Amino acid sequence: MPAGYPALAQTPGTPRNIMSLRKISCTVVAMAVCALTFTAPALAAEKPMQAAIHEGGQLFAAASLGVNGESCMTCHRGGGRVEGMLPTGKKIPSLIGAAASFPRYNERAGRVITLGMQINSCITNGLHGMPLSYDGPKMVALISYLTDLSQGRPIDLQGVER
Ligand code: HEC
Repeated sequence: MPAGYPALAQTPGTPRNIMSLRKISCTVVAMAVCALTFTAPALAAEKPMQAAIHEGGQLFAAASLGVNGESCMTCHRGGGRVEGMLPTGKKIPSLIGAAASFPRYNERAGRVITLGMQINSCITNGLHGMPLSYDGPKMVALISYLTDLSQGRPIDLQGVER
């Protein structure tokens, strides 16, 4: 023990190694409580997030959003992961990274649009369906699915920097 270091007060009859065992178990309990505090919210979020992403993937492939028997997947192949082309020759972009590029200025609309507005534009123009409510479960699911396709992509606001 270094000089000047105060001797640990010991309960008579309690060997020092038992004291340190107690200290270790306290530390382990504290670490477990700490780990639970930080992981519990993530654990609670994971299931509903996965459910929303899954539901969005189902909707993306279903014909129920339109009236012409087509789905998002008719144009956005491979669950949106593959580029394509309309019969008119217009390019259909891959949707990987798309969610990270909204809000975005849309020249045709002459204004900044959100991902939800783009989805509704595809529903009305591509599927001839009714636009979805922006806070309804179907829109939430489609946005969750598309955002999952953009995980890890940096947000791109058309050159605007902070
Ligand atoms: C008839 C074909 C067609 C259908 C069906 C269609 N889209 Fe699109 N989508 C396009 C085309 C073409 C573009 C690119 C041009 C544009 O902005 O309209 C596009 C663009 C997008 C974009 C923006 C991609 C980017 O980075 O520019 C998203 C997001 C998107 N579509 C989602 C959807 C979703 C979700 C559905 C189903 C609800 C859907 N689309 C159905 C043709 C379609």
